Amino acid sequence: MTCIVFGSSMGNTEKAASVIAEKIKDETRLVNVTDMTMETFKDCSTVLLGSSTWGVGDLQDDWESKIDLLKTINLSGKKVGFFGCGDQEMYPDSFVSALGTLYEAVKGTVDNIIGKWPISGYSFTNSAAVVDDYFIGLALDEDNQPELTGSRIEEWVSTL
Ligand SMILES: Cc1cc2nc3c(=O)[nH]c(=O)nc-3n(C[C@H](O)[C@H](O)[C@H](O)COP(=O)(O)O)c2cc1C
Repeated sequence: MTCIVFGSSMGNTEKAASVIAEKIKDETRLVNVTDMTMETFKDCSTVLLGSSTWGVGDLQDDWESKIDLLKTINLSGKKVGFFGCGDQEMYPDSFVSALGTLYEAVKGTVDNIIGKWPISGYSFTNSAAVVDDYFIGLALDEDNQPELTGSRIEEWVSTL
């Protein structure tokens, strides 16, 4: 079972989460982060965490109130990946930084990160989501590159 938890204010990351769920061949559980509990990840071998980025490099609002809970959940033994939407033109200094915040929250217990994504094909100057010259997960930009979202998701899911 793959568990997909997303936080989304305008629906972009929610839509991406639904498409990701459709593309995954494994059984999926799609959960809005507002409904995330300690039990959410039970029976899941793979966990995908999605957040858009707000403020300047901040987590999406619903994630802000759940990030402390996430930190208490032990995800060891599970594959964990990240995805989310941002806006590289308006926020080039904090593009999709929320993915980096999610990664920081779980990296202590997670031993199997999946779905790193190349930074080529984007134009930005700084992002907390870049680790060792890769995005820690799938970066989507519905504001400037909506036409690329479908193929990016397809390719990303095929690597998981
Ligand atoms: C006030 C505001 C602040 C934002 N801050 C950032 C940011 O720091 N970095 C970024 O990549 N995108 C930023 N964005 C862009 C959103 O992340 C983007 O529009 C995204 O698609 C929204 O996804 P959602 O509908 O899933 O919440 C911001 C947008 C707004 C309106």
